[in-house]
Amino acid sequence: MEFSRIFTVSCSVLLMCSSLAYGQAASPPAPAAMTQTPTPAPAPAPEYVNLTYLLSVAGPFETFLNYLESTKVIDTFQNQANNTKQGITIFVPKDNAFKALKKPSLSNLSSNQLQSLLLFHALPKFYALADFNDLSAKSPVSTLAGGQYTLNFTDDSGTVHLDSGWSKTKITSAVHSTDPVAIYQVDKVLLPEAIFGTDIPPTPAPAPSPDISPAADSPSAESKGDSSPKSSPSNSSSHRIINLGIWNQLVLAVLGGVVLFS
Ligand SMILES: *[C@@H]1O[C@H](CO)[C@@H](O)[C@H](O)[C@H]1NC(C)=O
Ligand SMILES: *[C@@H]1O[C@H](CO)[C@@H](O)[C@H](O)[C@H]1NC(C)=O
Ligand SMILES: *[C@@H]1O[C@H](CO)[C@@H](O)[C@H](O)[C@H]1NC(C)=O
Ligand SMILES: *[C@@H]1O[C@H](CO)[C@@H](O)[C@H](O)[C@H]1NC(C)=O
Ligand SMILES: *[C@@H]1O[C@H](CO)[C@@H](O)[C@H](O)[C@H]1NC(C)=O
Repeated sequence: MEFSRIFTVSCSVLLMCSSLAYGQAASPPAPAAMTQTPTPAPAPAPEYVNLTYLLSVAGPFETFLNYLESTKVIDTFQNQANNTKQGITIFVPKDNAFKALKKPSLSNLSSNQLQSLLLFHALPKFYALADFNDLSAKSPVSTLAGGQYTLNFTDDSGTVHLDSGWSKTKITSAVHSTDPVAIYQVDKVLLPEAIFGTDIPPTPAPAPSPDISPAADSPSAESKGDSSPKSSPSNSSSHRIINLGIWNQLVLAVLGGVVLFS
């Protein structure tokens, strides 16, 4: 009898002490309604993003990366990523998009034209996927190539379409999307009117009858089911959940102590 009484008391004292200590360590003694955490320390400088590395491990984007390196446009991109507040958004065609290029080919472009064409694949600012809704209203949008090298965007309920006149394509996945660097995969090489002119041959009408299935030569068949590029992390809700967890435990511990004492 005596022993169990002592045991109970010491247990509850222990519980009280530990819960108090825990409570103090875990969160300031604020009323439960005000779980707002104190303002965090200023954000650290953004991490260095090695574009060459990223493009070499994702994709395959080898053709695009080779062009970027041979023209040194990779340095322009990396500099924009490293040293500007605005950041950069790059649209990267996969290797098979270059293979599919037939009519206007890149083979006889001058080196200046090739550089412009590559710079045409980037915007001098970081855009998260959610930002393209706003960007649609601002089309035509200037690219890193400047001048008349502009792209039009339309956000079709979450699917971002790009239009260069010659190339109509869409973002098929987000390779990287953390301020200041966004890299999005696109289905086609973007051909600027500023190089190829506005005399665009009419796009072949999409085959109206399903007689002959074109599936065999469609390059999109190999997409890995990653076509829904959701990348916006939901903000503060996780904070709140953690805080709630701590409060719950504190309340439970105190309750436990009270019950044992009575
Ligand atoms: C970036 O990545 C490439 C490819 O992995 C590597 O060769 C290069 O040294 C890296 N650059 C820096 C500055 O780390
Ligand atoms: C970008 O930053 C990295 C790491 O600080 C550096 O090694 C690289 O030379 C920089 N590149 C450019 C083009 O500024
Ligand atoms: C590229 O070659 C094609 C045909 O060979 C020619 O019609 C076109 O003018 C050339 N383009 C440039 C920029 O030299
Ligand atoms: C881009 O949008 C502008 C303004 O809406 C329009 O005048 C232009 O023709 C469009 N360009 C292309 C290539 O669709
Ligand atoms: C995330 O937080 C920022 C700043 O607190 C706010 O402007 C933004 O709307 C929030 N986004 C979401 C998805 O809650």
